[in-house]
Amino acid sequence: MLDSHRVIVCVGSGGVGKTTTSAALAVRAAQNGRRVLCLTIDPAKRLAQSLGLAELRGSEQAVSRELFALQGLRCEGSLSAMMLDMKGTFDELVTRNASSPEQRDRILQNRLYQYVSTSLAGTQEYMAMEKLHAVRLDPRFDLVVLDTPPTTNALDFLEAPQRLVGAIDSPVMRWFVETLENSKGLSLMGRGAAFVLRGLARFTGVEFLENVGQFVTELNDLFGGFRERAKTVYEDLKGPDVAFVIVTSPSPLTVAEALYFTRKLRDFGIEPKAMIVNRVHGTPEACGDAQAAAAELQTFLQAAGSSADSSELISRMSEALEDDVALARRDQAGVRRLKESVGQDLSFAQVPAFERDVHDLAALAQVAAHFERAGG
Ligand SMILES: Nc1ncnc2c1ncn2[C@@H]1O[C@H](COP(=O)(O)OP(=O)(O)OP(=O)(O)O)[C@@H](O)[C@H]1O
Ligand SMILES: [Mg+2]
Repeated sequence: MLDSHRVIVCVGSGGVGKTTTSAALAVRAAQNGRRVLCLTIDPAKRLAQSLGLAELRGSEQAVSRELFALQGLRCEGSLSAMMLDMKGTFDELVTRNASSPEQRDRILQNRLYQYVSTSLAGTQEYMAMEKLHAVRLDPRFDLVVLDTPPTTNALDFLEAPQRLVGAIDSPVMRWFVETLENSKGLSLMGRGAAFVLRGLARFTGVEFLENVGQFVTELNDLFGGFRERAKTVYEDLKGPDVAFVIVTSPSPLTVAEALYFTRKLRDFGIEPKAMIVNRVHGTPEACGDAQAAAAELQTFLQAAGSSADSSELISRMSEALEDDVALARRDQAGVRRLKESVGQDLSFAQVPAFERDVHDLAALAQVAAHFERAGG
């Protein structure tokens, strides 16, 4: 998958390890000789540190080859990383689609634009797609790995364009625009509308309301082009050079979400290429036998001449071991359920839960080593 695609999109529920997995896939592909760009939305310093960068910026930065060498890793290709700059991407979009430089400036300088371009539902998801669209044809890279935003609802990601257009083109907004446009001022307005707007104007000022009206009208103009574009961007995602990877943990809740997400992608006409189950706790066998461990501890304490009452310690240890076994069983059940449900066409990999956070290039490479064992 890493060798034969131009774009890899990692999707999954919040906190399962999307950012880590994206970075690990990018590291692996770079090691294999590809020129990779890892596009993340995660401003976490940790990821930057793992890649030996002080911070991630809104423009590409190369990860130094020396860093690979220092950690005993070869790198045949190259690795760059970049953080998604939401507002910058939206600015480019407005600039590209505005009908005139005046319209562009009016929108960019509108106070509401600040809100729409950074805080409106769906903006971040859509901008990730938009940026991807822009960099996928960049001749400097063979592969772009996209880390998607932490969405609590898997739907958010795929329905972002509709939601974004919907939020701006909502009935409330339309009512606003029509009311303001069709009247020559508050005094000539229908009584109901005038009442509402007067109430609002008391808080915001009439000028502000007119500002809103103008802004929404202009964004709507822009969206003639924008809607078309959203379609193109999303059609591109269905191309044969794009691979979707579902990242999940083996816990029951995220398993259910991963399965739902797989179905949803298929509904959108996208067949996911791989599933990565991250943070799988060891097998029950590997946890050992609590009884045997307790007996061993007792023997050890006696041999060491300890007079301490070991029963408390032993029972605590047994409990901890039993917890581990329960966790391992739960994870095994989660993995089994995923494997059975997703079918044979999907590569399937498991990454163990490491003792510590994944915090450097070597750890990312260690995560990636587990992708090798992916099977159908
Ligand atoms: N296999 C693993 N073993 C141990 N720690 C891990 C593993 N995978 C990820 N982590 C750690 O878990 C934390 C969360 O991972 P990450 O940031 O990749 O999740 P995410 O899915 O991107 O989260 P969000 O949805 O918030 O963006 C990080 O501190 C990371 O180092
Ligand atoms: Mg993340």
